Amino acid sequence: MKLLEEKIKQDGVAVNKHILKVDSFINHQVDPGLMQEMGQEIAGHFREKGITKVATIESSGISPALMTALALNVPMVILKKQPSKILNQDLYQTVVTSFTKETNYELTLSKKYITADDHVLLVDDFLANGEAATAAIRLIRMSHATIAGLGVLIEKSFQPGHEKLAAQGIEVYALARIAKMGENYIEFQE
Ligand code: G4P
Repeated sequence: MKLLEEKIKQDGVAVNKHILKVDSFINHQVDPGLMQEMGQEIAGHFREKGITKVATIESSGISPALMTALALNVPMVILKKQPSKILNQDLYQTVVTSFTKETNYELTLSKKYITADDHVLLVDDFLANGEAATAAIRLIRMSHATIAGLGVLIEKSFQPGHEKLAAQGIEVYALARIAKMGENYIEFQE
């Protein structure tokens, strides 16, 4: 999506060859107009897939997921990062390993909000190693719902997330794909 690539060039900061800062328009301060257009673009891509819910992982995924859900006119469900609740029968839970942050955390979903009848589109801001998305898919599948695909704003194509998800049969749609970056330069994938 040209609009997002232009915005990344203008306001994104490649801190080093691994980390892109987009906190002035995506994940700290949010540009609502741009976010709405990005949600509409993801929704347009998956519109014919019979999606019943959009799911995301808190917190930075919420803005793009909400805009996508609005455009598809379906509810948005937030997968929560919560400490383990022992034997809570109302929740599905799974562990996520974050390589970037070198931590483990528990992702939880209330059984009420995604059921076997649902066809779920997962939306997030970044796709990097794909660990969070893989765990989210695992969690959603515990409810016996099906997965329509993954929509992300920014894919760092030099990291293994896309391949990892494609290997599981998940369609990934990324609005901007970064092939390479370094201090003060960003190269997009054709
Ligand atoms: P993975 O989920 O794809 O496996 O990636 P990883 O564990 O490496 O990423 C962990 C967190 O870091 C995620 O946010 C992800 O969105 C974020 N992240 C990954 N690469 C970048 C980057 O280049 N720039 C920025 N700004 N963030 C990046 P999170 O821990 O889920 O936190 P939240 O922001 O959603 O609350």
